[in-house]
Amino acid sequence: MKFFIDTANLNEIREAAALGLIDGVTTNPSLIAREGDVDFKQHIAAICEIVQGPVSAEVTSVDTEGMLREGREVARVAPNVVVKCPLTRDGLKATRQLTEEGFKVNVTLCFSAAQAILAAKAGAAYISPFIGRLDDIGQNGLVLLAEIIEIYRNYDWGTEVLAASLRHPIHVVEAARMGADVATLPFKVIEQLMKHPLTDKGLDAFLSDWKKSGR
Ligand code: G3P
Repeated sequence: MKFFIDTANLNEIREAAALGLIDGVTTNPSLIAREGDVDFKQHIAAICEIVQGPVSAEVTSVDTEGMLREGREVARVAPNVVVKCPLTRDGLKATRQLTEEGFKVNVTLCFSAAQAILAAKAGAAYISPFIGRLDDIGQNGLVLLAEIIEIYRNYDWGTEVLAASLRHPIHVVEAARMGADVATLPFKVIEQLMKHPLTDKGLDAFLSDWKKSGR
């Protein structure tokens, strides 16, 4: 399972890249907005300088023509840019067209298996089911992830399942158990994955025993 970091914060991206655990980056308009008054394309270029793997940059148009214009522009920023389009009628049309032009598309805001089938049929490079946001409304997001993986295994569509909106380590472990191709994680979740109180306790005991032995 590849790890992408779900942030537009350059410090977090640098730190995660330095850990050697990151295969790519996903951003969305909310994450970019959180970075303040940055120029969108320059910011994506800065991310692409830190991470060589796929960097998803989302369009903000709601019509196919606008998505195509924005997608082609942002894809020119760096060869590793993946255009992110929403799972709407216009987004699916844009996905098909951009894919035929040789661009990679991450279809985002997926909340059903039916939508995931359409994204694959449209030629998406990635489908992004939002696990945490389903949990938020009382539906089990991991059930959707399992359904999509099961369906995709029946065919040779070439669309990777990118588990998104992951909020805690259990989401990540379950996504890995199911065989998701990619998990995109906020920096906080990457930190949570490392932590175990028994590791800290055990290390303290080892170091204090070592010291007590007079070495
Ligand atoms: O980038 C898409 C997704 O991962 C957002 O997650 O936590 O805002 O639902 P969240």
